[in-house]
Amino acid sequence: MQRPGRLITIEGLDGSGKTTLAAALEGALGARGLPILRLREPGGVALSERIRALVADPALTVDPRAEALLFAAARAQLRAEVLEPALAAGRWVLLDRYVDSSLAYQGGGRELGLDAVAAINALATAGCTPDRTLLLRVDRATGRRRLEDRGDAADRMEREQDAFFARVEAAYDALAVGEPARFRVLDAHQPPDRVLADALGALGDLLPDAAAEA
Ligand code: TYD
Repeated sequence: MQRPGRLITIEGLDGSGKTTLAAALEGALGARGLPILRLREPGGVALSERIRALVADPALTVDPRAEALLFAAARAQLRAEVLEPALAAGRWVLLDRYVDSSLAYQGGGRELGLDAVAAINALATAGCTPDRTLLLRVDRATGRRRLEDRGDAADRMEREQDAFFARVEAAYDALAVGEPARFRVLDAHQPPDRVLADALGALGDLLPDAAAEA
């Protein structure tokens, strides 16, 4: 799609270090003069932050189809309110989770299937697809340990069993294999500065010449 901005999404299991990488990339790309906007899903705008609270709440019963629709609704609002305007204005949007999270967690983890989840997300995103997707690959035990080290109470998704995350992981891997031009898989067991270096390498062909040399 021709648009002045760039949409870079960051994906991976809980505890893979997406937020750390997003913050580091914001600094590194911003220092090269790129107009960065960092967002996260679900969230980024008021309606979607409220949906974030709903889907995280362990006290709620949420049917898998309702869950998929809630994430898609949050995404639709973010796209309309912030993503499209930012991309049209030439911003580089760093987005922590996007459609691939729904394909992996709801399509794979919840076993709704990729086709059904892709269909509702086609409605939600109206053709707004990432220019590049960085998949932070970390084994499930490491991801879990990092979450535990954080010490926060587990949210509704994080309370799932290992079999759920195994399906999420397998779905992510299949997505990356299926779309090699868009995906770059990064080894997220490495220290944060190495993950950042790999991420910058994975974006090299998108960077304007001056920014790539900086
Ligand atoms: P995450 O940003 O990883 O949460 P935190 O900031 O607490 O680390 O995402 C919240 C949870 O929502 C995470 O378990 C993954 C899940 N999720 C889905 O299941 N589907 C989606 O489409 C999205 C965007 C997130």
